[in-house]
Amino acid sequence: MSHNIAVIPGDGIGNEVMPEGVRALEAAAHRFNLDLSFSEFEFASCDYHERHGKMMPDDWRDQLGGMDAIFFGAVGMPERVPDHISLWGSLLQFRRAFDQYVNLRPCKLMPGIKSPLAGRAPGDIDFYVVRENTEGEYSSVGGRMFEGTDREVVIQDTVMTRTGIDRVLKFAFDLAMTRPRKKLTSATKSNGISITMPYWDERVVEMAKGYPDINVDKFHIDILTANFVLHPDWFDVVVASNLFGDILSDLGPACTGTIGVAPSANINPEGHFPSLFEPVHGSAPDIFGKGIANPIGQIWSAAMMLEHLGHVDAGKAMVEAIERVLAAGPENAPLTPDLGGKGTTSELGEAVAEAIKAG
Ligand code: NAI
Ligand code: MG
Repeated sequence: MSHNIAVIPGDGIGNEVMPEGVRALEAAAHRFNLDLSFSEFEFASCDYHERHGKMMPDDWRDQLGGMDAIFFGAVGMPERVPDHISLWGSLLQFRRAFDQYVNLRPCKLMPGIKSPLAGRAPGDIDFYVVRENTEGEYSSVGGRMFEGTDREVVIQDTVMTRTGIDRVLKFAFDLAMTRPRKKLTSATKSNGISITMPYWDERVVEMAKGYPDINVDKFHIDILTANFVLHPDWFDVVVASNLFGDILSDLGPACTGTIGVAPSANINPEGHFPSLFEPVHGSAPDIFGKGIANPIGQIWSAAMMLEHLGHVDAGKAMVEAIERVLAAGPENAPLTPDLGGKGTTSELGEAVAEAIKAG
């Protein structure tokens, strides 16, 4: 089976880490005999915007819609193009047009990385945050009335649909089924938000009936954030609405150390549209051009992409290779400065690619 992958480096260090992501994919393709073909696109970048006055060509959906996946770097150069234009004009368009209703982020403490949480070692933190990515609190229902007067009023409604909740819950339960602990935690706030959140809880109970092997629990979002810090070892798969998931999907990876390694996926699970895989970090204008950006977030995103495309062994092998290189430490591996080493982006990328090939 062959896969057509759209490669979009974007801006800043996206251009530096992307070649390492592709190199790692080529190493995995070689070892696991995968047929990957890459098509690079220069749009969704501020360079493109400067030349064309927009972030993407009008036919971007046609150009990308037939791809099997989108491998993305980072977008944004706030000195040149305001962030609301660069991000809304590219990444957020993909998420909507391609109905990428699951935002998935692994939160895993890797060897050789110090957690900001005292006394935590690899193995203590290893869970996923599954965020609903299309509705919920981030709706465009509402408005502003009596603007500029004493009666000024603003309203923004939360929109939760049965379809929207059930499909993200199904993804999360299915993911939990693939994990040894088979545990699912739901983020709620049904004690305060008394209409939508009790409905969310009802749908969780309903979905759980189809998954008798999954151990389900729930926490209100306030104590849940505290427990991410106090007891990260309690969690396996955490599922949340758009707003709660947004918060948890930054807090979770933050508990596992450097932003340079964290990956993410925006998924359309049915495969009606391509899913998008990208590191959590942005374009890092402060280090762009120095050749010291950590490529591991991009490479780990590539591993998630292979798992999504059905090559679970290849994806796992890539993550294991990352773990081996990190575990070697700055004395024995060319780790980048954010990991306490003196390595460059391409040296670290090459080390991971070699580790993937070596198996
Ligand atoms: P950022 O993630 O680009 O950088 C934050 C800090 O982390 C910086 O000090 C940077 O040097 C460091 N850092 C980030 N990635 C690193 C890596 N791979 N290796 C070593 N250090 C790394 O976030 P910031 O500065 O807030 O945003 C810069 C631009 O990126 C903005 O235009 C922002 O909108 C955009 N952005 C884009 C995202 C995306 O494409 N999904 C996500 C986050 C921000
Ligand atoms: Mg966020």
